[in-house]
Amino acid sequence: MEQFALYLYVLAIALFILSLRWMSEVRTSRRGNIAGVFGMAIAITGTLIAYHSERYDLLIGAFAIGAIIGVPIALKLPMSAVPQRTAMSHAFGSLSIALVGVGEYLVRIPGISIFDSAVLSVEIIIGFLTFTGSCIAFAKLQGLIPGKPWIYPGRVFVTLATLVISFGLAIYLVINPDQTFIIPIMAAFALIFGFLMVMSIGGADMPTVIAILNAYAGLSAAALGFVLDNKVLIVAGALDGASGLILAIVMSKAMNRSFLNVLFGGVGAIPSGGGDGKGAAKSAQSYAVEDVATVLENASSVVVVPGYGMAVAQAQYVVKELADILQGKGVDIKYAVHPVAGRMPGHMNVLLAEAEVSYDQLWEMERINSIFPETDVSIVVGANDVTNPAARTDPESPLYGMPILDTDKSRTVVFIKRSTAVGFAGVDNELFYMPNTMMVFGDAKQVLTELVATLKG
Ligand code: TAP
Repeated sequence: MEQFALYLYVLAIALFILSLRWMSEVRTSRRGNIAGVFGMAIAITGTLIAYHSERYDLLIGAFAIGAIIGVPIALKLPMSAVPQRTAMSHAFGSLSIALVGVGEYLVRIPGISIFDSAVLSVEIIIGFLTFTGSCIAFAKLQGLIPGKPWIYPGRVFVTLATLVISFGLAIYLVINPDQTFIIPIMAAFALIFGFLMVMSIGGADMPTVIAILNAYAGLSAAALGFVLDNKVLIVAGALDGASGLILAIVMSKAMNRSFLNVLFGGVGAIPSGGGDGKGAAKSAQSYAVEDVATVLENASSVVVVPGYGMAVAQAQYVVKELADILQGKGVDIKYAVHPVAGRMPGHMNVLLAEAEVSYDQLWEMERINSIFPETDVSIVVGANDVTNPAARTDPESPLYGMPILDTDKSRTVVFIKRSTAVGFAGVDNELFYMPNTMMVFGDAKQVLTELVATLKG
């Protein structure tokens, strides 16, 4: 029977690898998702077969409670809240790994091996720091606490000290494995480290932080897999850790930040450029939908720049409808997709795919930026930070250095949002006040629906 469980593990591992492969492309991502779900179901079945339990009532109870909470969340959750949900899954996943680690440690004493003691200590530390880190990331993304970094003198020293103390206690524990009173103290310092680390990271860097926490959760799962000698946990944890790390590198590159800069840079601390979002003394030129319709009637090339506001307004379908109308009139249509537009990696791709926008109309930042100077009209739909020219020009701006979509270089910019309020990074956008910008204030879906009606009329 246990041999059979091993075969199931091999099948689950193959499905996990295929899942990651398929999810790396928009076209095959649904297949990747399904493969991941089946892989996990097979891995759980294999584990139930391999590890005999005397308390199936507890397992079934836990499964039922998980399903009762998880299924409605999965079905009802708006796409715009997926990053928060991801942060919460990292939090619960890492907490359970850390608690299982503590349980395993206590079960194995006296007589725990140095290897088990060392690996479990590291796993417990990573698990607990990921838990508080993910909870703070959730609170920042959900707007429960301010997104701005928590900065105070000696911040880096204090944060690092908690981690060093935690690992120092782990070394003491490995040398004196029976002194289990050390475990809660070590865990407490890890919890404090996770809290301090993410509190001091600014909102604009949250995508990278989520990816790093993803990597941590995977690493701690892999470490636990070694101690439990559970192959599927080792492989799944390693895949999770590696993919999280790769994602963090891709994100850092997209935002032109180094890891150290993300973790200790306190980026986003000093808003600049009238960061109150009120536009200070500057005034933005507000236009009516009819004015935009006239400009579009005379355009031959249009680039749509979607952002988080499109997700909030659920405007992707009407964006596609507008693009189809313009295309019908012979206008060349492209969509500019910034890697961190929205609130999760691939957010815009998912929404545009939902509206059945053709893949070959999606242009990545590197490719589209050279096209903007010869573009007649860029229509910015609820994007903000990813278009902010201060990222190129203002060394004082928290966004400085982040590659942006050079929307400002197109002949006319139509900017659709509800006000001149700031975006996620909390900084004002110079683009609102440029002479080639037409601000159209309102909910993206409503404005675009009126625009479509005007163009049809
Ligand atoms: P943001 O800079 O966050 O700006 C979104 C804009 O949408 C807001 O300024 C808001 O302005 C507008 N908006 C909100 N609801 C709207 C509605 N119903 N209709 C029209 N507009 C609406 O978005 P972005 O340009 O996509 O940039 C993403 C930011 O999020 C970056 O700073 C990025 O670092 C960060 N972030 C990204 C991720 C990932 S992985 N993508 C994860 C976490 C954070 P009004 O209130 O005036 O309407």
